[in-house]
Amino acid sequence: MKKTILITGGAGFIGSHLVRLFVNKYPNYKIVNLDKLTYAGNLENILDIENKKNYEFVKGDIVDSVFINELFLKYKFDGVIHLAAESHVDRSIANPMEFINTNILGTVNLLNAFRKICEKNISEKRFYHISTDEVYGSLGEEGLFTELTSYDPRSPYSASKASSDHLVRAYFHTYKIPIVISNCSNNYGGNQFPEKLIPLAINNIKNNKSIPIYGKGENVRDWLFVEDHTKAIDLIFHKGKNGETYNIGGNNEWKNIDLIYLLCKIMDKKLNRENGYSAKLITFVKDRAGHDLRYAIDSSKLQNELNWEPSLQFEEGLEKTVEWNLNNQKWINNVVSGDYEKYYEKQYKKR
Ligand code: NAD
Ligand code: TYD
Repeated sequence: MKKTILITGGAGFIGSHLVRLFVNKYPNYKIVNLDKLTYAGNLENILDIENKKNYEFVKGDIVDSVFINELFLKYKFDGVIHLAAESHVDRSIANPMEFINTNILGTVNLLNAFRKICEKNISEKRFYHISTDEVYGSLGEEGLFTELTSYDPRSPYSASKASSDHLVRAYFHTYKIPIVISNCSNNYGGNQFPEKLIPLAINNIKNNKSIPIYGKGENVRDWLFVEDHTKAIDLIFHKGKNGETYNIGGNNEWKNIDLIYLLCKIMDKKLNRENGYSAKLITFVKDRAGHDLRYAIDSSKLQNELNWEPSLQFEEGLEKTVEWNLNNQKWINNVVSGDYEKYYEKQYKKR
């Protein structure tokens, strides 16, 4: 094997798409997928590659420093692509400590373990930290986040991700370990846990349940198809420059309410329902605390320097996502149980 790469969080939404891409595209890399399998991690996401020769799954917690140090000493990873995180803003509002532990302490544990194995062949190593545009805070009606925008996180989730970004950069400057960071906008696609807006709405429309829209639905997000994100990660991992940050975005801003109307139209068509049927399920509910108004990414650095661009039009990506959800009811039934049922009751029924 030419390289041994650790992908953390590879049983989650974006991580599973990334693991699949790397295992299939790089047969001469050994891909080690480390995941705690929280409510958001599901090995069913990557059943198709689990028996590949260049793939190994390790169950473990990035917060456990002893375990992490042993793992790094055993494999002496050439590269780390770090996605493991608590990732849902609403959960961070209800229970911030999990976010502090996994997103901050977990990241520092990985950095410390990586630093130890960097003593040899440092020039061939790389620690790639996957982050979010939410670290930049909230935009007004105008403007875009660039790599130079000051950090201004406003939820426990984004503050924990911002802290981890700062620590990754601090390790680059202080200990000279080779790092790269990317900050991406909202992803969508198959295998996304149905607590996030798009899969939650698809699932509710299908089951004739109300579609909860926070506030007036005027918040804006910049949506990117998950496989366009993983292609960008592949490029940045191989061609990005050490110490640099790259913004990744879809150039695809949507007000939540407009997105939901488009989704309802697609669902009516797919389910052979009368046009306008699903939109009747839209229900405006109490706003999210501290709800960021608008995120929008300027990804020109990535486009100009590494020649990346999003491949899918939004309507096409949304149709694919609807189809994935309609064709994978068993996957949804398996994840929408236990912890999720309790979470959903607490999050929405109190309103
Ligand atoms: P996800 O919640 O679907 O998956 C997270 C994965 O991390 C799960 O498999 C979970 O089991 C694992 N995990 C959680 N805590 C762990 C721990 N302590 N030890 C080991 N594994 C643990 O998240 P996602 O949407 O795939 O996001 C992946 C990464 O991308 C995150 O770092 C997130 O901040 C970032 N990101 C996400 C988006 C998005 O729109 N989803 C956008 C930009 C950046
Ligand atoms: P989400 O998918 O949670 O992503 P993020 O908060 O990381 O952007 O939410 C996307 C947008 O949809 C955000 O503005 C909050 C809103 N939203 C709702 O209106 N209703 C919901 O039930 C959820 C989960 C989100």
